[in-house]
Amino acid sequence: MQRRDAIKLAALAALATTCASAYEEKLIVNKKKMEIQDPTKMTELELKHSPEIKVGAVDAQGFALVEVNIGQKGVIHPSIDNHWIYEIELLADGKKVASVSLEPTASRGYLATRINTKTTKMLSATSRCNLHGDYTASITL
Ligand SMILES: [Fe+2]
Repeated sequence: MQRRDAIKLAALAALATTCASAYEEKLIVNKKKMEIQDPTKMTELELKHSPEIKVGAVDAQGFALVEVNIGQKGVIHPSIDNHWIYEIELLADGKKVASVSLEPTASRGYLATRINTKTTKMLSATSRCNLHGDYTASITL
C-alpha cells in the first residue's frame, strides 16, 4: 500500500468514527406509524410524542423561524439511556426540508430551521421514538 493510500484510508476511518451514532441500532424497537386515537382527548402518551410546530417571525428574506418541540401542552418527551427521540423530520407541503438525529441523554426532541412561508402551505413534523414509534403532526399556514 502506498503511503498516500494509507493516509486516505486512515482519514476515512476517522471520519466514519466521528459520524457514527453513540447508541446501538438495536435500541430502536418500534418503527410503526402511530395514530392519535381522539385528537380532542389526547392521552399523556400521545401528547408526549406529538410534535408541536411553532412558526415565528419572518426575516427580511421571507424565511420564518420554525421550531419543533416533541411534546405538546408541556408534556415533554424524555431523553434517557433507553428511551429517547432519535429523529425528527420536517416536511413542507409533503417535501422533506429538514431533519435532525438525536442522541440519548445528550439531546432531546427539538428541531429549528427557517422556512419560506410565502411558498409553503402546510408543515408536517414526524418524531421517531425508539420505543413508541412515529408520531406526526401538521399545521396549515
Ligand atoms: Fe417514547
